[in-house]
Parts: sequence; C-alpha cells; structure tokens
Amino acid sequence: MKILLIGSGGREHSLSIKLNESPRLSKLFIAPGNAGTSEIGENIPVKETDIYKLLDFAQKEKIDLTIVGPEAPLVAGIVDIFVSHGLRIIGPYKNAAMLEGSKEWAKQIMKECNIPTAKYERFNTFESALHYLTRKNEYPVVVKADGLASGKGVTVAFSEKEAKHALERCFIQKVFDSAGLTVIIEDFLEGEEASILAFTDGETVYPLAPAQDHKPLYDNDKGPNTGGMGAYSPAPVVTTEIEKIVLDQIFYPLINGLKEKGITYKGIIYAGLMINDGKPYVVEFNVRFGDPETQVVIPRLKNDIIDIFEAIENQTLSNITLEWEENAAVCVILASKGYPEEYEKNKVITGIRDLKNNKSIQVIHAGTKSADNKLLTCGGRVIGVVGLDKDIETAISRAYEAVDKITFENKYNRLDIGSKALNSISI
Ligand code: AMP
Ligand code: GLY
Repeated sequence: MKILLIGSGGREHSLSIKLNESPRLSKLFIAPGNAGTSEIGENIPVKETDIYKLLDFAQKEKIDLTIVGPEAPLVAGIVDIFVSHGLRIIGPYKNAAMLEGSKEWAKQIMKECNIPTAKYERFNTFESALHYLTRKNEYPVVVKADGLASGKGVTVAFSEKEAKHALERCFIQKVFDSAGLTVIIEDFLEGEEASILAFTDGETVYPLAPAQDHKPLYDNDKGPNTGGMGAYSPAPVVTTEIEKIVLDQIFYPLINGLKEKGITYKGIIYAGLMINDGKPYVVEFNVRFGDPETQVVIPRLKNDIIDIFEAIENQTLSNITLEWEENAAVCVILASKGYPEEYEKNKVITGIRDLKNNKSIQVIHAGTKSADNKLLTCGGRVIGVVGLDKDIETAISRAYEAVDKITFENKYNRLDIGSKALNSISI
C-alpha cells in the first residue's frame, strides 16, 4: 500500500516508524517530513497547508491512503477535497474539524451534548469581555482565542491585569489575526491533566492508552505553555473507571451528537482532560493525534496501524480489537534555546547514531534537517527521546540516559518528565 503522511513533527516521525512496521506498506511519502522521516520514506517538499499540491501529488502517485498529522489542513478541509476526488484519507471532514478550529463551536457542542466541561461566555469585543471580567471578578480565569493559534491562544490569568493583557493581545494587538477576534472566557478547572486519544469511524469509538503531556516549559509545570515538553503513557491518573466515564459521557455523546447534526466524525479524536476528584472534564478537543502523546502511545500499540486506518475509512472499526504492550513509554523533548519564543537554529546535533540499535530507545526527530552530511536543528522542539521499558520508572531512566548522550549547543529539556506518574503510583 502506498501511503502519504502529512506533517513534519515528532508525531509524524513516530507514525512513520509505526507504518513502516506494517508488512502492508509498499511505499511511504511524507510531506514535508523531517530528517528522521527521510530515513524511513521519501520526503516530499510540499507544505502541509498546500492542499492542492498535496492533492496533485496523491493523484499522480496513485496514493492508496493519506494520513493527516496536523490540524491546519483538516480545519482547511483537506478531507473534503481529497474525498471529492475519489481519494482515501484519514481525518475528519471540515465541518467536524471545527471542534478544533473554533473553541466556541466546540463549547457549544459540549453544552448541547451534556459533556462535562468548564462554564464559558463568548465575546466579540474587548469592552464586553472586560466588562464581564470586572463583574465576575474571580481568578484564575481562562482566556482563549477562538480560532487556531498554534497552541498559544490560551492564557490562564491569575489577576485582572493578566486577563486584560490576554484580551488586548486578541482584540487590540491582533496577535492571532482573525483567530483572536472572538474570545471565550472560561472558568478555571482544578485537577490533573491527561490526554485520551481515540480512533473512531463515526460509529465505534476505541480509546487509545491514556497519556499525560507536560505543557509548561520548566520543571514542576512552571513557565510559559509550549506545544509539549514531554509525555508518558500509561497515565495512572486515568483509572479504568475514568476511562469508562470518558467513553460513555464524553466520546459517545460527542460522536452521536455530531451524527444528529448530520456530521460523521471519522479519524482521530483527542480529548484534553482535567481530572478532579475522579471526574474528567474536557479542556479541549483536538481532531488529530497529539504531539508528543503519539510518541508514547503509538509504540505501545501492537496492532498493524494500517489495518486500523483502513477500518476507520471503511467504517468497520468494530471488527478490530486494539492490543497494547504491557510496558510504559516516556518521551523527553529536547528544545532549542529560546523556545517557545524566537529560538536558535542550525546547531549541529551529535550522539544519535550510537542509540540506533537500542530497542529501549526511539529517537524521534521533530525540528531537524540534514545538510552537508550533518544533522542540524531547525525547530523549537528538536528531538523527542522515547524510553520504553517495563514500567514508568525504568522508562524514565532509559529516556534520560539517552538524553545525556545527545548534544547540541544550548540544548534544553525538562528534568522531571514522568515524575507525576511516580507520585500518583506511590499515593
Ligand atoms: P487548550 O489549548 O484549550 O488545551 O489550553 C491549553 C492549556 O491551558 C491546557 O492544557 C490547560 O493546562 C490550560 N487550560 C485550558 N483551559 C483550562 C481551564 N478551563 N481550566 C484550567 N486550565 C485550563
Ligand atoms: N500535546 C498537545 C497537543 O497535541 O495539542
């Protein structure tokens, strides 16, 4: 089977490793990919948002199945366009991708489907939002740009000053362009975060092994939010009872509620959760695989992933049983100096070759490129080092042993990835 994978991050490198394990794969193209994916398949220099170029490529190469990593092409309607040209593609249609494309729309659906989430109000002007804050006068509060903002559109504000600043960025400085011209203000949820991703064909929903992301830049969850500085799976905070609640009170009401609106949701659905006192609340839905959650969840999946993608597309997911390794995975992100703001580039990366044949380690490329026979940094998140072993504690050791072997100038990584899991195990 000829597959086109769209995206260029760690998530896509991880997916390409999994696709490459399938005996059904005959050729893998990655658009645009990174230095890691180029060792597995053929990178195609087409941007993830250049939908008509991707379509042209898929038609010319007679691609059997396209898999979409990032949200931007999904929200822009890549699935509708590919399907209308008779191509098979994994991901939700444009109308369903609105779940990630508009936070307000997602909140409205959650309200209609009775899905547990924080209370919210929406605003179209700076003045009305500010007026609401003054009246409410309760902090922390969460200010969110409605549209796609590369993970930067959310501010947890601990004072009126911080909340006002977030509103100014949206409405006055227009930092997020039109994505910030509608804003929602949400009540703050206490608790521990976890991510549950699921495969769905619009009828059946199969949750994947739970994971936990580490969004803040510094240890002990301090500092600005990033795309994710590390992750681990399984996530002990998600008990089997919570998993059941997520399926019965979140995923199925969502998929069925969308169906009632005439929207069939096919693909991957990601629930970002806040777990408080044994109850899960939805912080956000994403319409794709998480990054770096994919890097710790997908290596633990035993099934042939092409069988799963086909079953999603054919709406025969109920014929499949997901099987998981009884192990744990921990991913530590190595970042460039300056990330998540302006960051350094073109630093030489060394130490990866020695880790190649180590079964307990996956070195997942994100912001890397090859030039003159050297491996160079070219992104904020450069590499994800995944340790795989019998339990979280050993997987943490594996990951950090490997982290120490990889070098580039001003490499930065958190030192506490996975420690929250150990705390909840020991309680
Ligand atoms: P989002 O992009 O909506 O997932 O938000 C990014 C991060 O902001 C989340 O991972 C949470 O850490 C935090 N956050 C968002 N909404 C809330 C909320 N209602 N209560 C507490 N924290 C939140
Ligand atoms: N790890 C967060 C995300 O993929 O949105």
